[in-house]
Parts: sequence; C-alpha cells; structure tokens
Amino acid sequence: MSRGIKTVRPHLTFLSNMLWSLLILSSSFLVCRAAVCPCARPELCQQIRKERDFEVFVFDVGGKTWMFYDWTMVTTLAMFGKYDPELMCYAHSKGARVVLKGDVLLSSIVDQKQRAAWITEKVNLAKSQFMDGINIDIEQKVESESPEYYALTNLVKETAEAFHREIPGSQVSFDVAWSPKCVDKRCYDYVTIAKFSDLVFVMSYDEQSQITGDCIAMANAPLSQTLDAYDLYLNLSIDHKKLVMGLPWYGYDYSCLSLSEEGVCTIEKVPFRGAPCSDAAGKQKAYKWIMQQVNGSMTGRLWDDNQKAPYFNYKAPNGQIHQVWYDDPQSICPKAAYVKKAGLRGIGMWNGNILNYSDEPVARQQTAAMWNALLGC
Ligand SMILES: *[C@@H]1O[C@H](CO)[C@@H](O)[C@H](O)[C@H]1NC(C)=O
Ligand SMILES: *[C@@H]1O[C@H](CO)[C@@H](O)[C@H](O)[C@H]1NC(C)=O
Ligand SMILES: *[C@@H]1O[C@H](CO)[C@@H](O)[C@H](O)[C@H]1NC(C)=O
Repeated sequence: MSRGIKTVRPHLTFLSNMLWSLLILSSSFLVCRAAVCPCARPELCQQIRKERDFEVFVFDVGGKTWMFYDWTMVTTLAMFGKYDPELMCYAHSKGARVVLKGDVLLSSIVDQKQRAAWITEKVNLAKSQFMDGINIDIEQKVESESPEYYALTNLVKETAEAFHREIPGSQVSFDVAWSPKCVDKRCYDYVTIAKFSDLVFVMSYDEQSQITGDCIAMANAPLSQTLDAYDLYLNLSIDHKKLVMGLPWYGYDYSCLSLSEEGVCTIEKVPFRGAPCSDAAGKQKAYKWIMQQVNGSMTGRLWDDNQKAPYFNYKAPNGQIHQVWYDDPQSICPKAAYVKKAGLRGIGMWNGNILNYSDEPVARQQTAAMWNALLGC
C-alpha cells in the first residue's frame, strides 16, 4: 500500500482523491484484521528471503534456552514448542528463518480437498505468526504406492507451491529417516519429495529402531552405517544440496538384562514395526544429563572403535546396570567432516535445547564444543 501512495501524482482529480481515500480506508481495515507485529522493530516481522549456502538447522522444543544458542551459526529454527513471538523476532534479527511444524494424519489428507484445507490453514498460520516456512515431520508408516504414499508426495508438492507463492522466499523442508530403505516401514517417494522440498532433513539417529541381529545395546548413530545411508540417498539422484544431516544431541540409556565380560549389554526385546528388538527398550537422554551421569559412572567414558561412538556403564540406585550410548564432539567430528566433503546443504540436530546452558565453566565448555563440532574439527 505505501508504494501505491508514493506513485500518486499531484494532478489528481477530486474523484480519484476520493477513490484513494476509500482505498486507504478499506485497506487500513484489512491491516487491522491482519496480525499485529509483536517485535519491537516492525521490520523484524518481515520474512527472511535470503538463501544460505550452508544451513545449520535447529529443532527447538520450547522454553527459553534458545537465548544461549550460537546464533552466529543458526540459519533455520524449526519451532516445535509453543509459538514464541520473542524467538521469532530474535531469529529474524539474526537473519535466521523460523519455520512451523507440519504434521497430519496421512489417511485424513488422501482427499485432495482435505489436503488443500490443511495447507491453507498452515499458510495462514505462518503469515499470522510471521514465519518463514514449514518443516513437515511425518513419521507414519506408509506402504509403497498406497493412497497415503501418493497423498504424502502431493502434500509436500502442494505445500511447497502454496508457501512459495504466498510467502516468497519461504522454506519448505521434509524430515526423512536415516536411510531410504523403508526404515520403520516409512516407504516414501523420497526422490519426488526431495525434488519438491527446499531441503530434506535426514534424521541420522534412532538407527537401532529395528534390530534384527543380537538384541544388544548399540550406538544411536554408528559412523559407517550413518554415512553409507547418505550414499543410498545420493544414489537415488537426490541433489546433495538438498540434504541436511541431522545429528542426535541425545543418547540412549539401556537397562542391561546381562552385561558380558566384554561389556556387551543385552536388552529387553521390544518389537517395533516388524523388528523383534528395538532402541525402544532404552530411554532417550539429553546430552546434559549424559554429561552429568558419565562422571560418577562405573566405567567413565569408553570408546567403541567399530561404531566410532562413546558409551559408559553405570549402576542405578536399585543396583541395576545400565549402558548409555551417545554422541559427543569426537563422534560428531567425522560426520560434520563428511557433510563438508560431500558438499551437503548443511547440518542440524535434534534438538537445540538439550545442552547444559548454565553459567558453570565446565558446562559452558561442553556446550560450546557441541556447537563448534557442527562445523567440523
Ligand atoms: C552408489 O552408486 C555408485 C556408482 O554407481 C556405486 O559405486 C556405489 O556402490 C553405490 N552405493 C550404494 C551404497 O549403493
Ligand atoms: C567430569 O570429569 C571431568 C574429567 O575428570 C572433569 O573435567 C569435569 O569437570 C567433570 N564434569 C562434570 C560435569 O562434573
Ligand atoms: C549443568 O552443568 C553444571 C556444571 O557441570 C551442573 O552443576 C548442573 O547440574 C548441570 N545442569 C544440568 C541440568 O544438567
């Protein structure tokens, strides 16, 4: 509207003056109905349009720890907690995108009209919250070439089209499992989904969700298994510039049914999507918890040279022996190096909140080391 006013030439007739007044009046009504910018500086409500060569994609699950993130790195933040206008304003002040969470029951959007309604709702929500896109996080099982399979692909395509049209420069991303080989029965059309998305966040974790061999505690994201899966994605001819490597900033705490002399921890058989044994036998634990726990543990930090991952054993107050597998800067380093070497789009993590952001020097040093490891070492 302001651009329109600037083009008004001085020799306007009375009538066109009237028309302009009417236009301005009616558009100010429209403005009143639109969302009010919550930022101290109104320009911070403008969506981010700039393309970034290297993405650091952060999932945030709520709370205020975002204040302590390394904002020299963050390029996109997926707001999976409750909407926080302060965070949106702050991210924009740092040139970082903030994107919505998108999740929907696939059987409910097989119908094209229902799908369109869902997309319209998300576009309107993004506009009213001054967001820069959406991260579609659907982890449901889908059979290849089922109605849901096609509905999902169309959802991504139509969501990307609608966001790009309605919010120029916005980003539509999609989260995929660590491998495209129907992991967790998620048989999606990865190639077409990647084609329509601006980027694909590969969840390079939970890699023990379907254990078919010995039912034992293992690394969340063993190095060679993790990197081999990128070859599979790349071999599908998915553009490497679309792939963001997702790292876990959490580990798994397993209660051991038995612990062998060699330190192998057998775990309870908890089936998952067709596999007899799963990491669902363990509990997900934040890096900050792990750093507290490792010091008083039975073994201290150990290193598994096959999986290239740290782990330790501890005894719970009830006497039960546990084994904890996790990622730390040493296991993350070669993954980040691969991201650079393979020229992927970027790196990210689930999730940004779970480091120890307190003032204590030890915590500060550990937290800084985790952020820095994202850029390699
Ligand atoms: C990917 O394709 C290349 C070249 O065709 C081949 O050498 C490689 O083994 C493939 N990798 C996987 C994991 O299938
Ligand atoms: C754990 O132990 C290490 C090495 O002894 C020490 O540097 C560090 O301060 C301890 N960490 C915590 C969280 O107590
Ligand atoms: C954070 O680290 C400090 C220092 O190691 C420790 O005292 C505190 O308990 C930790 N907080 C959490 C939530 O782990």
